[in-house]
Amino acid sequence: MRTLKLILMISLSTVCAKGLSQDNIEKKVNDLLAKMTLAEKIGQMNQYTGFWEVTGPAPQGGDAANKYAQLKAGQIGSMLNVTGVKDVLALQKIAVEQTRLGIPLIIGYDVIHGFKTLSPIPLAEAASFDLAAIKNSAAMAAKEAAAAGINWTFAPMMDITRDARWGRVMEGAGEDSYYGALVAAARVQGFQGNLTENNLAACPKHYAGYGFAEGGRDYNTVDVSMQRLFNDILPPFQAAANAGALTFMNSFNTLNGVPATASAFLQRDILKGKWDFNGFIVSDWGSIREIMLHGYAADEAQAGQMAITAGSDMDMEGGIYVSQLEKLVKDGKVKESLIDDAVRRILLVKFKLGLFDNPYKYLDSNREKQITGSKEMHEAALDMAKKSIVLLKNDNNLLPLKKQSVRIALIGELAADKNSPLGSWRGAAVENSAVSVLEGMQKYTNNRLTYAKGTNVYNGQQGFTTEVKITPDNRSGFDEAINAAKNADVVVMVLGEYAFMTGEGRSRSHLDLPGNQQDLLKEILAVNKNVVLVLNNGRPLALEWEAANVPAIVEAWQLGTEAGNAIAQVLYGDYNPSGKLPMSFPYNVGQVPVYYNMLSTARGVQTDVFWSHYTDAPNTALFPFGYGLSYTTFEYKNLKVNKKDFAKGEPIKITVDLTNTGNYNGKEVAQLYLHDIAASIAQPVKKLKGFQLVELKKGETKTVEFTLTDKELGFYNNEGEYLVEPGKFTVFVGTSSAASLKADFNIME
Ligand code: NOJ
Repeated sequence: MRTLKLILMISLSTVCAKGLSQDNIEKKVNDLLAKMTLAEKIGQMNQYTGFWEVTGPAPQGGDAANKYAQLKAGQIGSMLNVTGVKDVLALQKIAVEQTRLGIPLIIGYDVIHGFKTLSPIPLAEAASFDLAAIKNSAAMAAKEAAAAGINWTFAPMMDITRDARWGRVMEGAGEDSYYGALVAAARVQGFQGNLTENNLAACPKHYAGYGFAEGGRDYNTVDVSMQRLFNDILPPFQAAANAGALTFMNSFNTLNGVPATASAFLQRDILKGKWDFNGFIVSDWGSIREIMLHGYAADEAQAGQMAITAGSDMDMEGGIYVSQLEKLVKDGKVKESLIDDAVRRILLVKFKLGLFDNPYKYLDSNREKQITGSKEMHEAALDMAKKSIVLLKNDNNLLPLKKQSVRIALIGELAADKNSPLGSWRGAAVENSAVSVLEGMQKYTNNRLTYAKGTNVYNGQQGFTTEVKITPDNRSGFDEAINAAKNADVVVMVLGEYAFMTGEGRSRSHLDLPGNQQDLLKEILAVNKNVVLVLNNGRPLALEWEAANVPAIVEAWQLGTEAGNAIAQVLYGDYNPSGKLPMSFPYNVGQVPVYYNMLSTARGVQTDVFWSHYTDAPNTALFPFGYGLSYTTFEYKNLKVNKKDFAKGEPIKITVDLTNTGNYNGKEVAQLYLHDIAASIAQPVKKLKGFQLVELKKGETKTVEFTLTDKELGFYNNEGEYLVEPGKFTVFVGTSSAASLKADFNIME
């Protein structure tokens, strides 16, 4: 056994050292596969979560002991939720040095917005509309996590969603598929880089449709049309595959009655077929077992058979493959070639990550010390946090705050909270390790800042497995806060959601400020009109009252480790905000789903009564997709299309003059939307098809140019074919999805 392992390791590392071509890797994979027993192959398809104190004694008895025995027998291909060089090394040594073939484990973890040093939650990062910054943020997260022994992140999440009630909106890039695809590619490239020891394999998830859970209730039924699937849900996944994502994760939901994990249509026909994806697909946690719970398989054996047949390659913490596949193959119910294909894919990824070349590539405790929590990590987190902030309202230029001679009352439990800015999916971040708004602002003021908590919204318990429970209205802090407001020139109120109010399993049926925060806000406004509302939240909120009554509103999400510093820099004008909303904010929860790129409906235009509308709320969002202000102002003029008529395939050039008309230097996200007036599938009223982040000094004008090609002009029909059809189009350019400058052009037959 030792000799076999040694020969393997030597021959593999020689090839790696020379730089492996795809052909070489495939040959090595096939050679290795030929040496594997069926049980060893199935082992590669089995993934468990960390099951014992890895650096302590081996577990005796029970489930952990069984799993430990499987590890030593080469029946585990991957582990998740084990982090840190010490622990990962202990595991990897068992896999490499104690199993027959010494195949290294691939170590996965949810590195969603950082590892120990956290950047903003992904929805917030998406608000930057800065793809280079988003890519860099993913690269930093990868670097810190890889230094802790991790090889593979279960990210990016790219589920398009239009329902703010769904708690997992915080993990994605929002409601728009075009933008979602660009963010997906940026994140994949950021995580994976050149697959050095500072990178991670990416795992776009959840494939597919999970973001359309009915009523926004997590894990609920999904029922989407082919139009929605092909045009809204799939494009980000395709972009991630094209960007070279090494793995994919499937999803918990069904699609047309078929669990995604058992869907050959999604996994074999589209992902591995049409898109030619040659990496592997991991199930979501227990989703192979859940095929039974969906009522689609009668027992574990059938669930396993369905999942492997449909193309799910690895079983995350389900134990189905390891317990069922061998018998299924022996009984002739599953062809061994299916197993071989799955294992080939898994080994291929391990090769590409360099794990065969050096299974200890990620396991350098000096590097871990140097990189974890380093200055580089904090600087990157701060940079991303500032770029993610969206200014929603700023009447009479209440912001930025003056740095001297202003008495400020800072109010709200969240203002001093060092935990909530870390958000959900916080990796290995230490509890309470974020800079609070209070701490950030204290750096600016000379004893002219008074803090009052105001209200106590929850019972203090929160965590990944503990929901935030709102306490009954508690007004005991109101008086102190009201007094502080009375004695201040400006009041900054930090209100919103606590960390674990969003994330997996955290759906809400209301979208207002939780607890009695709005009551407090009303009472403060009654004594001091100069209120700046700083929102901390992981999803769009319904802020109709706030938008009508509070003069300044800053959307500051959950911004990660450097949150308070970023917010203070924006409040005091050291950073001019330029973020734009990646998801529409409704007036009220009854409008949900509300999103900008809806279909026209035949009755979309206002008439007397018989048109598509609510009698008590507008059709559009309170703050629409793409919306966000700056401390300066911008003006769009002279929208031009270079010609009126275009041949098919001819690029279309659109220009607009953008001027900074205000008093600050600033950045603006200039946005282009397209409407295809008549098509063989009814088209949305507008679709984002271009944007540019433009930096302008005060008084400066730049001509911004957009180019539309077939890539932007077409759509998918209900068979999934991409079509560009001749006819009339309108382009809209401006500061948000409510952009009103428009021009027309034709694409000729
Ligand atoms: C279940 C979640 O749906 C998925 O996103 C995550 O990656 C896995 N659990 C592993 O934590």
